[in-house]
Amino acid sequence: ENAPVIAPSMLKCDFARLADEVDLLDAAGAKALHWDVMDGHFVPNLSYGAMVIADLRERTDAVFDAHLMVSAPGRYLDEYLKAGCDLVTVHVEADDFSPELLDRIRDAGVAAGVCLNPETPVERLAEIEGRFDLCLVMSVNPGFGGQSYLPGSNEKIAATAAQAPDAIVGVDGGVAGDTIAAASAAGASYFVCGSSVFGREDYASAVQDLAKTAAG
Ligand code: DX5
Ligand code: ZN
Repeated sequence: ENAPVIAPSMLKCDFARLADEVDLLDAAGAKALHWDVMDGHFVPNLSYGAMVIADLRERTDAVFDAHLMVSAPGRYLDEYLKAGCDLVTVHVEADDFSPELLDRIRDAGVAAGVCLNPETPVERLAEIEGRFDLCLVMSVNPGFGGQSYLPGSNEKIAATAAQAPDAIVGVDGGVAGDTIAAASAAGASYFVCGSSVFGREDYASAVQDLAKTAAG
């Protein structure tokens, strides 16, 4: 059993105060910060890229987790590895996804994550068995924060945990006080939380409450 990790999704922070938000999360004890990278092509939205992440890297010791919602992760991967990310997650649905992409991440000394969209079956993990450290189950269609947790996500988490028993199972989208306990019970231990952290005044109590609810 892995202790639950709450990773605030920086897509939902106040971009006008980005450095302050990182500092507040550091002070709140956040163990990981989740950076949603969107290219306006793989998903219908744009966010930020490796230069922004690199400039914020030194402000905290928290794990920097880059979630690459981009069509060509292979083309841009090195920038995220150089930016100081500790975990880089790529989608199996990306145009240039290949098992070797995960090896490139690990070869850089970075944890390799693989992400599955809601409609992608967990059987896709068979071809990359043993080559990733974390599987992130999307519990919304990627592109925007603030969506509702999709039904069937807990079954997907359980199937992922069964398919990849050595990997950490994460969940991303609509994770909040009312959905996190069941996701945890299904086998997730890494929780990406956007609205459920940034919608609260006090990030420390948000992170602690979510972790406590996940731990049961
Ligand atoms: C969605 C992103 C998520 C999102 C989570 O495409 O991958 O990380 O920002 O936000 P909430 O927790 O509000 O669903
Ligand atoms: Zn994400």
